[in-house]
Amino acid sequence: MADTKASHSTAAAKPEDAIAALTADHKKVKALFTEFKRLKEQDDAQEQKAELVSRICMELKVHAEIEEEVFYPAVRKQIDDEDLVDEALVEHASAKELIAQLEEMDPEDDLYDAKVTVLGEQIDHHVKEEEGEMFPKAKKAKINTPELAAQMAERKAAVQTALGEEDDGGSKAGARGSKRSRTDKGMRSS
Ligand SMILES: [Fe+2]
Repeated sequence: MADTKASHSTAAAKPEDAIAALTADHKKVKALFTEFKRLKEQDDAQEQKAELVSRICMELKVHAEIEEEVFYPAVRKQIDDEDLVDEALVEHASAKELIAQLEEMDPEDDLYDAKVTVLGEQIDHHVKEEEGEMFPKAKKAKINTPELAAQMAERKAAVQTALGEEDDGGSKAGARGSKRSRTDKGMRSS
């Protein structure tokens, strides 16, 4: 299939379904990692790699934020499995560390590809646990309400704005492949 760009498919989840929205995010990020796998085999794709990785990092940061701030607290309140949420938080923390490192790196740097690949593997594992264990339990506990979905959507929009992302996918003209432009982001005052 020619469809390797997952950037346009976010709107697929029904707005009232929080779990479907998270699952759609997972799918999108997975497709971006698949795209990276393809790019890393090419010699002349440094700039594309930088853009793609910048996008992956942004998607993951937004996703982690809405899970940590909205979804996990709801799960923790309603299901009798603290470990599940605790482990998910630890997994997020370790992903964030790799993301922070990648945001300071260029594709030419040592271990760049390896870090992206390992991040992808970690996310893969995390997604399997969420989709295989946490989401079914959350569904059973009936926390997947339209209200929760609305809170998540609202939070997502706010985080995207705060992180300087215009998420209607497509052209990431702002995501240049230089360290400087990426570090600047952290200093935005808006
Ligand atoms: Fe997730």
